[in-house]
Amino acid sequence: MSRGDIGVYGLGVMGSALALNLAEQGFDVAVSNREVGWIADFVAEAGPLAARLHPHSEMSDFVAGLKTPRVILFMIPSGVPMDDMIRAVTPLLEAGDTIIDGGNANFHDTRRRAAALATQGLHFVGMGVSGGETGARHGPSMMVGGTAQSWTQLEPMLRAIAARYEGDPCVAHLGPDGAGHFVKTVHNGIEYADMQMIAEAYGLMRFGMGMSASDIGAQFEAWNKGPLRSYLVEITGALLKYEAAGAPFVDHIRDAAGQKGTGRWTVIEALHMGQSASLIEAAIGARSWSSEKALRERLAAQYGGARGAVAVGLAQIEQALMAGRILAYAQGFRILRQAAQDYDWPLDFARIAQIWRAGCIIRSALLDDIAEAFEASGRGGQLLEAEVIADRLQGALPGLRAVAAAALGAGHPAPALNNAVSFFDSLRIASGTANIIQAQRDFFGRHGFERLDQGGQHHGPWWD
Ligand code: 6PG
Repeated sequence: MSRGDIGVYGLGVMGSALALNLAEQGFDVAVSNREVGWIADFVAEAGPLAARLHPHSEMSDFVAGLKTPRVILFMIPSGVPMDDMIRAVTPLLEAGDTIIDGGNANFHDTRRRAAALATQGLHFVGMGVSGGETGARHGPSMMVGGTAQSWTQLEPMLRAIAARYEGDPCVAHLGPDGAGHFVKTVHNGIEYADMQMIAEAYGLMRFGMGMSASDIGAQFEAWNKGPLRSYLVEITGALLKYEAAGAPFVDHIRDAAGQKGTGRWTVIEALHMGQSASLIEAAIGARSWSSEKALRERLAAQYGGARGAVAVGLAQIEQALMAGRILAYAQGFRILRQAAQDYDWPLDFARIAQIWRAGCIIRSALLDDIAEAFEASGRGGQLLEAEVIADRLQGALPGLRAVAAAALGAGHPAPALNNAVSFFDSLRIASGTANIIQAQRDFFGRHGFERLDQGGQHHGPWWD
């Protein structure tokens, strides 16, 4: 009997949470999983929602159990497993059916798959899903890329399960093929930068100002009631308060950060497009260096690992985090703007900011201002030029400068905060030093340059 409104394949953490969310919203959900043993357990643990979950262990039954045109959401590891899955499922599908990849896929793969499946009349949707397990279960933020036709079919279901910000579902159709996965990639890049700056602020308070972990936690909780309000500040406040064996719990965690690659893709794509995501790169570099723990231990012994006292106030650290956050978003949206041009995507930056306001990991009070800024300026706007953002940034910059300078002076690593200052200073000066770069290029390689006072290309007197 074909009764599934949607099929969810892949009952890991995110897949099972999304399936339960869909069932709770009244949709009939066919479910399946590669390890078939999981399927019955999952349904058995679903309580009253089990009535809306229809388990299948064979792919052919799973597909046959869906209403047509079919919609299948795959929540499986990205990369080769997704290509294998497409090969396995497409012979069972018909023109008009939709396959959704809800994983953190590389948008180039999504574009390739969408183009290949379009030749068979199939829709391939790349959907970025943010919010972790809790988000997926009770309301994620979803960034959708795909055909208009597939969106028409998906929209009611996705709006029903999305997080809501003052009633507005945090889901949007952002463009064709890879647009949704690209926006999710940039989301993750901003996530990395914000996390890193919070960690840097923690480091200054703990090792430069002598605050205890729980006092720092209380400080983050206090900041979370003000302009810095955000999920990442909130959870940092919460996690710093845990203790174990008479010590802050965080002191038991090895200081070597992991990463799965999406932040890195943001930087790679930015560079490909002639842009820079330097703040995000700083965060990735910091994670990479952190994982070289043995080398750090040797170098600390060789050079001395001491960090000095920093003479800054907590209000300045709050400002530094605010300014850094604004500048990280500014970089993220500049990358989105370039991608919209290069890939001819109709990205609506105000809408992107709006759907990040609830459900996702980078949700923050600042996104309200960012949405307002882009509503006023439209697609061509630069975040840093928007009045509402400029006011905030001007107010927070003195704190950012003071904190970055204090960190440098006292030997505290703050690569993201330091980078934020340099990014801003590079953009805010009307006359920079790139004339020297141009002169050097011409001097050694006759590359030519433009003059301020004349048109055309020129060479320097060193070639006369
Ligand atoms: C989200 C997150 C999520 C991501 C994790 C882990 O939006 O819910 O971005 O998709 O997978 O944050 O990322 P890393 O392992 O790379 O830190």
